[in-house]
Amino acid sequence: MRHLLEIDDLSAEEMAAVLKLSAPSAAPRVLEGLGMGLVFEKPSARTRNSMEMAVVQLGGHPMYIQGSEVGMDTRESVEDVTRTLACYHAAIGARVFAHSTVERMAAVDIVPVVNMLSDQAHPLQALADLLTIETVFGSLAGRTIAYVGDANNVTRSLALAAGMAGMTMRVGAPPGYQFDQVDLDRIAATGLDLVVTDRPEAAVEGADVIYADVWTSMGQEAETEQRLRDFEGFAVTADLLSHAAPDVAFLHCLPAHRGEEVTDEVVDGAASHVWLQAENRMHAARGLLAWLMQENS
Ligand code: CP
Ligand code: NVA
Repeated sequence: MRHLLEIDDLSAEEMAAVLKLSAPSAAPRVLEGLGMGLVFEKPSARTRNSMEMAVVQLGGHPMYIQGSEVGMDTRESVEDVTRTLACYHAAIGARVFAHSTVERMAAVDIVPVVNMLSDQAHPLQALADLLTIETVFGSLAGRTIAYVGDANNVTRSLALAAGMAGMTMRVGAPPGYQFDQVDLDRIAATGLDLVVTDRPEAAVEGADVIYADVWTSMGQEAETEQRLRDFEGFAVTADLLSHAAPDVAFLHCLPAHRGEEVTDEVVDGAASHVWLQAENRMHAARGLLAWLMQENS
């Protein structure tokens, strides 16, 4: 059984096939008459809506399930929740706090499990990010992404995907908020040309893409004040954009905390492609599900 817990669960060739299947014209009815259970331990706008619509476009029926309702590890074990949902659904998506939760769901191995964001990874976001860069620039290989901010779940998946696509990445993050050695080793295995710096200007110099995410991720709210202090100087502003390539594209997985990690001027400016990126969440989800269902059939 194939699952998608992190983007490098796919080979580079498989990821390219998924991106190809993400074309708006490709919607094989692989979920005809079937359900997909979507379990959310955290809030979501883009992921829930894009996944629900992707399932519908593939002929299936999406079911939104609150983590608190099924009571993962409180009402019954994560494994028994998974076994139960597999009685009704052909696939399960899960947005969880601990990455180990999606690992445990996948280990049950009855139906494919898709990680819809964990504290470690956001592979569906990375697929949509690549799709967006490909649309904007016409190609991926050789392009440079500068990520400015916290090296978090989004950054980790993006770095792995960028390496698999032959891209270059620079991460500008304060000390203490950069990749650890385990991440660096896993990213290096993709062949990514990666530079990590604590100087945002150095990260974005000549970059094709500047990428931002929130400084405080879901589940880290108690650290908000400390993080606001630690990330001072790491906001993506019009001035920072001026250090990048003249045709730089600004991306953000959203939700944006306008006035913190990015200014209104940048999110709403000519370089911003954040709404195309949000739309691409649906196309990428559909491509991934089409590939995964065919692969497991
Ligand atoms: N980018 C993203 O995953 O958005 P949501 O948290 O709204 O799903
Ligand atoms: N890093 C953010 C991404 C939200 C889509 C979080 O985990 O909250």
